[in-house]
Amino acid sequence: MKATTNLENDHVYILRLCDVMEEMAQSGIADPAHLERVVSLIRNFADGLHHKKEEDLLFPKMAEKGFSPVQGPVAVMLHEHEEGRNYVRGIAGNIEPYKSGDKAAAEAVKYNLLGYAGLLKNHIAKENNILFRMADNALSAEEQDDLSAEFKKAEESMSPGGSSSHYIAQIEELAKIYGIG
Ligand SMILES: [Fe+2]
Ligand SMILES: [Fe+2]
Repeated sequence: MKATTNLENDHVYILRLCDVMEEMAQSGIADPAHLERVVSLIRNFADGLHHKKEEDLLFPKMAEKGFSPVQGPVAVMLHEHEEGRNYVRGIAGNIEPYKSGDKAAAEAVKYNLLGYAGLLKNHIAKENNILFRMADNALSAEEQDDLSAEFKKAEESMSPGGSSSHYIAQIEELAKIYGIG
């Protein structure tokens, strides 16, 4: 499997998590335990594992091919990862006051859920349609294979049970609860 395909497969589940987050915000009935699970899935899977594969492995490989990490498309992606982290802090930091019925915290949770989901949907579209196609043009089959092997190592070391399936099962559980088909 190409390394870029591995990342696109992660995107399918990150997008489902974004759908869950939008539904949580729009239905206004988010269970605080579900919010905690969303934060943990982002921090461990979407950001922890997936963005780590991009930031520590794909983007440096692309830098070798002339894609600068300080300007241009890779720099934009790095900046958007940071913006995502800000939204996650905005959710995490408001869960406790939200639990005690603080209305401003409820609004902040909603704002940050929608902000994260909107940002990531757009970000993933750019990666799938533009950035990864640039990577496919720049990397040889052997380089894609080497990156894939590195991705597998990251998955083994950063996932309970050694694969992403644990995270995917948790996302699917939330998708079921929030009626995401
Ligand atoms: Fe990304
Ligand atoms: Fe990505």
